[in-house]
Amino acid sequence: MALRTLKNGADLHGKRVLVRIDGNVPVVKGKAVDGAHGRIARAAVGIDWLRQRGARVIVMTHLGRPKGKRVPAYSVRPVAKRLSELLGIEVRFSRDIVGPSVSRAVDNLKDGEVLLLENVRFDAREERNSPAFAQSLASLADLYVNDAFGVCHRAHASVEAIAEQLPSYAGPLLQQEVSVLSKVMKSPKRPFVLALGGLKASDKIPVMRKLLPDADYVIVGGALATAFLAADGLPVGRSVYDGDGVRSAKRLLKDARVKFLLPLDVVVASSPTSRAKKRNVSVSQVGPKDMILDIGHASMKKAAREVEGAKTVVWNGPFGLAENERFRDATLLLARAVADRAEAAVTVVGGGDTVPLVERAGLADRFTLLSTGGGAMLEFLAGKKMPGIEALQT
Ligand code: 3PG
Repeated sequence: MALRTLKNGADLHGKRVLVRIDGNVPVVKGKAVDGAHGRIARAAVGIDWLRQRGARVIVMTHLGRPKGKRVPAYSVRPVAKRLSELLGIEVRFSRDIVGPSVSRAVDNLKDGEVLLLENVRFDAREERNSPAFAQSLASLADLYVNDAFGVCHRAHASVEAIAEQLPSYAGPLLQQEVSVLSKVMKSPKRPFVLALGGLKASDKIPVMRKLLPDADYVIVGGALATAFLAADGLPVGRSVYDGDGVRSAKRLLKDARVKFLLPLDVVVASSPTSRAKKRNVSVSQVGPKDMILDIGHASMKKAAREVEGAKTVVWNGPFGLAENERFRDATLLLARAVADRAEAAVTVVGGGDTVPLVERAGLADRFTLLSTGGGAMLEFLAGKKMPGIEALQT
């Protein structure tokens, strides 16, 4: 897949460049939660590249799902602060997204300066992919760069419609994501291990279907595994899982059971609270009052052995209730096993909850690609057409 890109020699001096990033990170007490490998930090690299070439950079992002309304909790002001820290300059902030005040702010930008526009989703026309909104955004700039892989599956104005209005290019982060993921999909080195966890079955099952012919093993964890255990008629007590996935899980197991590594044991408790006693039990021994909250030790040892022999590993989604440290063991064990393949295999890790976790474990640098995409990574791997990427194809 060839994308239009800006070459090193491109003359960007004094050019107004509109850059779409995915700065959708949690905001806690007015601060963007974004580590050294976070979405904003990763996007800052491309912004800096443009600044160093004398461009005047206008940045757009969304935050949350404000549904076309100005919701103060979703203001992207904290993203401006984080970008200022990362770039070592004061990133200006515009309370408006389009209109005369924004045009004035852009006119006042000097070469190498950066302006961040307020949350593009505060305008209802963004999610409608409105050409008129895209036109107003485009009138601010000479070029458009999309460096927001995480939102390329959305046909939104700042992602898709805009690309028709200006000369448009893929930023470095988007290029890297697309290049690694495309290779993994086209010709994965074998053995190829796919590891999928998390809650939603609806977005993981299509990935399994697409990659099953090339995958040697599919390791299933998280609440997704509970749906598979239920599909096999095993007891799952009061566990939380996506019941809609059970029928698809049954079909997948019927077609390719030998490739699936389902848990043999799980960690259960009566609730996720710290007082509830946790037990590691065989999958046949889950009681009616139990909740499955992590994958068991024996299963994870087996999973790690498959990862140890793999030449390609793709992993998305936590293997247990990883936001709670009592139920994080399986996810951390898998993270270490994948990280240990750093030199020997192509390793791709993604999913909104997974990235902060591997970062905290000090492993974030040890993967071929730590994807900034959650849903976007899964849609790409499921072979779906992504509007933001289609718009940039040569
Ligand atoms: C994400 O968090 O996966 C991206 O920022 C896309 O957000 P969305 O699902 O609200 O479109």
